[in-house]
Amino acid sequence: MALGKGGRGGLGAAACLAVVVAAVAALLGAGAAMAAAKFDDVVQPSWANDHMVYDGDLLKLRLDSNSGGGFVSKNKFLYGRASADLKLVPGDSAGVVTAFYLSSAGDKHNEFDFEFLGNVTGEPYLVQTNLYIDGVGNREQRIDLWFDPTADFHTYAVLWNPSQVVFMVDDTPIRVYENRQNATVKGHHRHAINATTNATTPSPFPGPQPMAVYSSIWNADDWATQGGRVKTDWSHAPFEATFREVRVDGCAWAANATDTDAGEVSRCSESSWGKEGRYWWKEKEMSELTVHQSHQLVWARAHHLVYDYCVDTDRFPVQPPECSGR
Ligand SMILES: *[C@@H]1O[C@H](CO)[C@@H](O)[C@H](O)[C@H]1NC(C)=O
Repeated sequence: MALGKGGRGGLGAAACLAVVVAAVAALLGAGAAMAAAKFDDVVQPSWANDHMVYDGDLLKLRLDSNSGGGFVSKNKFLYGRASADLKLVPGDSAGVVTAFYLSSAGDKHNEFDFEFLGNVTGEPYLVQTNLYIDGVGNREQRIDLWFDPTADFHTYAVLWNPSQVVFMVDDTPIRVYENRQNATVKGHHRHAINATTNATTPSPFPGPQPMAVYSSIWNADDWATQGGRVKTDWSHAPFEATFREVRVDGCAWAANATDTDAGEVSRCSESSWGKEGRYWWKEKEMSELTVHQSHQLVWARAHHLVYDYCVDTDRFPVQPPECSGR
């Protein structure tokens, strides 16, 4: 739902030009205030405050030769769905990376990343996803997209609950990371029989650490575009990524609680899965993809996956445990 759409009705009904002009001025003013209020409820600048810019009902993150910029959500969350309606830097965006991600704090932090790797004019962006679990990342996958992400807004979302982490582009799942910790319990028999061979390392899954939602834009021309061969052309600055909406629908962590607060962990993750359907992201049907979503995922990977760490045997001569069966 685009909150910015309210308040615009009735404009066409104005008869007299003077009234129309006044109405437009009033509506533009209201639009900007509404945008600020809409985003202010959810996020605040995380660095270089003047590189987070309101433009009508939109929010822009700006990169120029002085600085990039970023924002962070005001609240932390344990489980839920975070999304951004985002239009990426148009034209020449070589060297520029825009990220939208969830992250907890500390050495053993968890993190779920979307990183949009810019390109020279007319060449495709790549979308890199990654997961950090207990401080360890190196789980990169890359896709290209089935549309031009600079031409319009698209919704990039992460759904996170105790069963899975799902990365979605306009509701099409492009990546799923499943909780297979119970699978090792199920596999107990085989494991016991075959104890000496094939000792399985359990597949890690991000534990219940509260996360904030972040976005940032920065210069990454040492690696981002065509392997770092193409550098940022500063004559094309400023580079701006534009947000129409940032939305977080999750179990909000109490502001005064520490990140390890047991009461908050159980409140947000208890097996009753919340009351009154409030915690919809933890309902039974959210514990795995629907059949339709599974088909979408297969389609996205078949047509758009360009890199997957799971099959990169140069980097990982021993396949990471969470990749087995792929
Ligand atoms: C940029 O364009 C080139 C040429 O089409 C392509 O090989 C590359 O994957 C694109 N994306 C990035 C981020 O380099």
